[in-house]
Amino acid sequence: MLKHPKSNKEMKNAIVLLIIIGTCLTSGCSNAQSMSSDKILIVYLSRTNNTKAIAEIIQRNVGGTLVALELEKPYPENYQQTVQQVVKENETGYLPPLKTKIDSIEKYDVVFLGFPTWDMKMPPPVKSFLHQYNLSGKTVIPFNTNAGYGVGSGFETVKELCPKSKILEGFEIRGGVERDGQYLVIKGEKAKEAETKVKKWLSKIKVID
Ligand SMILES: Cc1cc2nc3c(=O)[nH]c(=O)nc-3n(C[C@H](O)[C@H](O)[C@H](O)COP(=O)(O)O)c2cc1C
Repeated sequence: MLKHPKSNKEMKNAIVLLIIIGTCLTSGCSNAQSMSSDKILIVYLSRTNNTKAIAEIIQRNVGGTLVALELEKPYPENYQQTVQQVVKENETGYLPPLKTKIDSIEKYDVVFLGFPTWDMKMPPPVKSFLHQYNLSGKTVIPFNTNAGYGVGSGFETVKELCPKSKILEGFEIRGGVERDGQYLVIKGEKAKEAETKVKKWLSKIKVID
C-alpha cells in the first residue's frame, strides 16, 4: 500500500523534492551551473605546445586561469635523452621539483589537468603537481595529447592520485610525434578540428551547454 504524507509539512517537503528532481532532469544536472570562470584552473604540461593548444581552446570556451607547469631543472632538448630520463624517473618514482607555484589553490573548484603521454604514462612533473597540491573536494577534468598511442595509464593515475576529487571523463587527441621531428600539429585547420572535438566533449560532460 502507498504511504501518504502524514502532515502538510511532509507534503510540502515532498513537493519541493519533486521540483528539485524535475529541474535536475530537465537541465541534465549541468556541471556548468556551478562553474564560475574565476573558480576554474587550467593547468598543463607541454613541451612542443600541442597540449598547450588544447588548454587554450578549453580556456576560450570556459574561461579560467591558465597555468603552464615548468620545472626547476628543465628536461634536455634532445628527445632520446628526455625519454631515457623519464624512464628512469618512472622506475624510481622521482618527482621533479616544479618552478611553477600556484597561488591559493583553494580558491579553485574545478581543475582541468592537461598533459602529453610520456612512456605511455602520466609525465613525472604532473605527478609532482598532484603530490604538491591538494585537490580534495574539487572537480578534476583531465585532457591529453599523444603521438597516436593513446593516453596509456595517464587518466588512471589521475584517479589514483586524486582519490577525494570528482573526476570527470577525460579528453584525448593525437598531437605531434617528436620522435619523428613532428612538433606542434594542433594549429591551423587541425586546431579548428580540435576545437570542434573539445566543444563536443565539454558539452558531453555538461561543462558547456
Ligand atoms: C619523453 C616523451 C615520451 C613520449 N612517449 C609517448 C608515448 O609513450 N606514447 C605516445 O603516444 N606519445 C608519446 N610521446 C609523444 C607526445 O605524447 C606527443 O608528441 C604530444 O602531443 C606532445 O605534447 P606537447 O606538444 O604538449 O608536448 C612522448 C613524448 C615525449 C617527449
